Amino acid sequence: MKAVRTLILAFVLVALPGCQGQKAASTVGTDAAVEARIDKFLSQMTLSEKIGQMNQVSVGGDVSNYADALRKGQIGSILNEVDPVKVNEFQRISVEESRLGIPLLVGRDVIHGFHTVFPIPLGLAATFDPALVEQGARVAALEATAQGVRWTFSPMLDIARDPRWGRIAEGSGEDTYLDARMAEAMVYGYQGRAADTTSMAACIKHFVGYGAAEGGRDYNSTFLTERQLRNVYLPPFEAAVKAGAMTLMTSFNDNDGVPSTANTFMVKDVLRGEWGFDGLVVTDWNSMGEMIAHGYGTDRKDVAKKALDAGVDMDMMTYGYVSHLEELVHSGAVKEAAIDQAVRNILRVKILLGLFEHPYVDVDASAAVQYAPEHLAAAQRSVEESAILLKNNGVLPLEAAPLRNILVTGPLADAPHDQLGTWAFDGEKEHTVTPLKALKERFPGKVSYVPGLTYSRENRARFDDVVAAARRADVVLVFVGEEAILSGEAHSLADLNLKGSQSELLAALKATGKPVVATVMAGRPLTIERDLPNCDALLYAFHPGTMGGPALANLLFGDVTPSGKTPVTFLRTVGQVPLYYNHTMTGRPYNGETLLDDIPQEAGQTSLGNTSYYLDYGPYPLFPFGFGLSYTTFSYSDASLDRDVYGKDDTITISCTLANTGGRNGTEVVQVYVRDLMGSLTRPVKELKHFERVHLQAGESRTLQMQIPVSELAFYGQDGMKKVEPGDFQLWVAGDSDSGEPMNFCVK
Ligand code: NOJ
Repeated sequence: MKAVRTLILAFVLVALPGCQGQKAASTVGTDAAVEARIDKFLSQMTLSEKIGQMNQVSVGGDVSNYADALRKGQIGSILNEVDPVKVNEFQRISVEESRLGIPLLVGRDVIHGFHTVFPIPLGLAATFDPALVEQGARVAALEATAQGVRWTFSPMLDIARDPRWGRIAEGSGEDTYLDARMAEAMVYGYQGRAADTTSMAACIKHFVGYGAAEGGRDYNSTFLTERQLRNVYLPPFEAAVKAGAMTLMTSFNDNDGVPSTANTFMVKDVLRGEWGFDGLVVTDWNSMGEMIAHGYGTDRKDVAKKALDAGVDMDMMTYGYVSHLEELVHSGAVKEAAIDQAVRNILRVKILLGLFEHPYVDVDASAAVQYAPEHLAAAQRSVEESAILLKNNGVLPLEAAPLRNILVTGPLADAPHDQLGTWAFDGEKEHTVTPLKALKERFPGKVSYVPGLTYSRENRARFDDVVAAARRADVVLVFVGEEAILSGEAHSLADLNLKGSQSELLAALKATGKPVVATVMAGRPLTIERDLPNCDALLYAFHPGTMGGPALANLLFGDVTPSGKTPVTFLRTVGQVPLYYNHTMTGRPYNGETLLDDIPQEAGQTSLGNTSYYLDYGPYPLFPFGFGLSYTTFSYSDASLDRDVYGKDDTITISCTLANTGGRNGTEVVQVYVRDLMGSLTRPVKELKHFERVHLQAGESRTLQMQIPVSELAFYGQDGMKKVEPGDFQLWVAGDSDSGEPMNFCVK
């Protein structure tokens, strides 16, 4: 956590309105002073007090229920208390009534905002805008810390290539590079770029491989090789560690037979040894205890020992450490030095957060911080940048003036709880602005509302009421998708089509001949191919959060031009899982061969095509990674590289001219992909290596210069070493992962 210290001690406050003026309260001193302070505590602590620091408890109800344990120093951290009065009371008992006065670390799942809820993380990733994502995380920290929360269990860095997995909602999608940039942004945002009482420790999770759950069923086993881990799944974690992430959570899954909470190689060798992480490692909720169900430990004592041996510092909700470590030390099975090390890691976080100096929150000030206008504005902008325009036959943007009757329909048009998405514990539906509410406010007297379906899974044979309303309307705005409950933890799905009669609703609306504009709110990329013909335009908003309504109204009516891009491949059918853009190449790449409908009845084996694809669905997704339309058009020209040949320490400079060739101002997410044509291993067909958002006025063009250090092309090869392998490469500059012409270069 050296980086944290440097970061916390040296940086200036991030320039977010609302955090300006916060005083830097760091009194932590130098590394040596911090460690000396920890040494002093360790020399004073009893074994039981040390083990108490390693115990995290989810609290609820009356504080007095925990008073005895707090006084005895048996709890080091609590989670799930956000009432500032109660948080202060928890801290008061710990600080004033326990022997050593060590404050608690107060944790909470603040995943995409605290009270002001931002788009789900998958939606945030669609912005391709780390600066904005950092701002969102800062807002979350300002609001949460104002109520006493100083530790969030975010960001989730699990690469997810299977949309059946409900937790795809909580991460940045399928791409390692995009995930790593979002990881850094969130760490900076939560922890702040200067230490003060608004710093909230980030917890990078779930370590590791959790997103590769077999079959997309949550909690399921994974079978990732060490090479896949190092090349695909670990880089976001490493980037977050470098950015100064103070804590990390082990995952529920076992990878190749080893449960993460007992994975010594990953925690001790890779995380701590190779990356130098000296932060706090916490289990997931009862993931220590679940090792018994995995069949990896006989009882709580056994799994407590295994977790400690692996280097896990804190136990979330197994009560394994607090119940058994003392006994394990006395029997000689566990060394007290291992406990000292864990306590050291925990106390270091508490010291760096300034908790000893500032254990309490100002209760009177906390309410004013919540839903501050600048927080709502940042949330709204995040939706405006994250919604992805997937289809537009020209109906969008809507021109308001000629519209007399706007029909708003669909189960997600006015679902204030559901548009917040998964993991929005502290979001309040009373503060949520739905599309219906925003549109009614914007166009008084012009909006009619007939829901058609009251919830996504409702089945209905006839839509007489909504069809009649559509016939009277000038335009139909239909909001479909899935409720918050259908994604997130433990909410995996096997069928990703729109649920219930939503597709039938779209078809019935389309049959009226009126323009139909669909907006999808969902926690994952749903398989919407069959619905596309039934709408004239489609905007994919994921779950947009508190300010979804006004942001979507701005997008639909052209105040803002869509700029979001798919952070994950959109599939035609769930049977294509897994299908992601940066796969390695087979020995038989698809070559435009026969599809099912073209197969003659009498066809023999050899006439079917001999390459890698599905006979019924071909090789392609519905929308590739990085895709998104705009209300304007962009053209790329004059792309070139500064050299043909680079050394391993060089930097590649890419030039290209981007022109806004349409009639509206707009923002393009320029993406650079690289392919390593031959290696000691088969290499991905493309890998994102750079992106940037470029805003251009209508008709404007700009020459861009982008740089990629050659060292970014390194990977773990056949010999297990990370290096750039010399040879030929291709590079694309384009608006999505499926466009552009390759340029060639060579690394010597
Ligand atoms: C279980 C989840 O897997 C994890 O992401 C979360 O942070 C903890 N529960 C705490 O709520």
